[in-house]
Amino acid sequence: SAAEKGGFDWFMRKEIHEQPQAVADTLLGRFDADRRLTLDEVRISEAELRTIDKIVIVACGTAFYAGLVAKYAIEHWTRVPCEVEIASEFRYRDPIITGRTLVVTISQSGETADTLMAVRHAREQGAKVIAICNTNGSTIPRESDAVLYTHAGPEIGVASTKGFMTQVAACYLLGLYLAQVRGTKYGDEIATIMRELESMPAKIQKVLDAQQQVLDLAAELVDSKTVLFLGRHVGYPVALEGALKLKEIAYLHAEGFPAGELKHGPIALVEQDLPVFVIVPPQGRDQLHDKVVSNIQEVRARGARTIVLVEEGDHEVEPYADVLIRLPQASTLLQPLLATVPLQVFACELATLLGHDADQPRNLAKSVTVE
Ligand code: G6P
Repeated sequence: SAAEKGGFDWFMRKEIHEQPQAVADTLLGRFDADRRLTLDEVRISEAELRTIDKIVIVACGTAFYAGLVAKYAIEHWTRVPCEVEIASEFRYRDPIITGRTLVVTISQSGETADTLMAVRHAREQGAKVIAICNTNGSTIPRESDAVLYTHAGPEIGVASTKGFMTQVAACYLLGLYLAQVRGTKYGDEIATIMRELESMPAKIQKVLDAQQQVLDLAAELVDSKTVLFLGRHVGYPVALEGALKLKEIAYLHAEGFPAGELKHGPIALVEQDLPVFVIVPPQGRDQLHDKVVSNIQEVRARGARTIVLVEEGDHEVEPYADVLIRLPQASTLLQPLLATVPLQVFACELATLLGHDADQPRNLAKSVTVE
């Protein structure tokens, strides 16, 4: 009923609006009185965590994309090699797992069979497994060595939204915790990143407050047959997630690409008026930002309609953007918590305009309990 949906037309739209609170709840109470990050639920000894020489993140669907974001943060903060793998591919290829491998599974439901089988396989090989999960007492955390719960609250919409955002937040917490335990980041640095993380819910709210522009854009693009999404670094998994949302609920062909890979193939797809979303990294010292700006010019020169997600105050992209979606400023690694939101709103609105059930898309289940 409308009441259950808090006055929204879909649970999905309600859940998109709950994201500032969901992320805040996931971050809550993780810092102790000495300003040390304490993940009480992660009951693997610090000594054991110091011996880890490889991290493997395993997940399905949207949770896999949260894992791709996590890889950038975890490797940057901990200097431990981190791989991310689709759960259904993992165990059947004889992966290299030892007692010094830390396997991190990410699952909103905690019941996804592919992910559960990966947990069992990893533990049989002697790896320690940490589950990042939203559902208390579900099978995956019960069968893991440790669990880090996201606090998104129940997610009803089949296409994950607040589940994803809280998974990303939990991955940052885990990365910082491992960095603290292993001594690759010190108290002050961790406190600075935690403060930025704690500022994200208010920024997510700002993105939501500006969503009318995205709703209008969905109305303009309602007849699209294909939509492309480009990003680099953590913007690449955001691009993949933006495309997945359109496939799942708007039944629209969409692809996400690493912007730097464009010239090696996907640019052949670009034709007059093709909508191309581009996630622009924050302006900074590295060349990432400028390279993405060049990519925007390249697709636009070939007729693409560019929809550019970019931080406030970045004027360099303006000449090449048909539509500018402004994001509050954030550091590169944390930007996915902002850039994902307009893409969710866009998909939800497009599905609505096309007359589809955004909460119960055809052929999909909220939790897939068969391999
Ligand atoms: C299903 C859902 C997806 C979800 C995936 C993983 O396929 O339709 O939205 O991302 O499962 O679910 P999990 O509960 O493991 O995060």
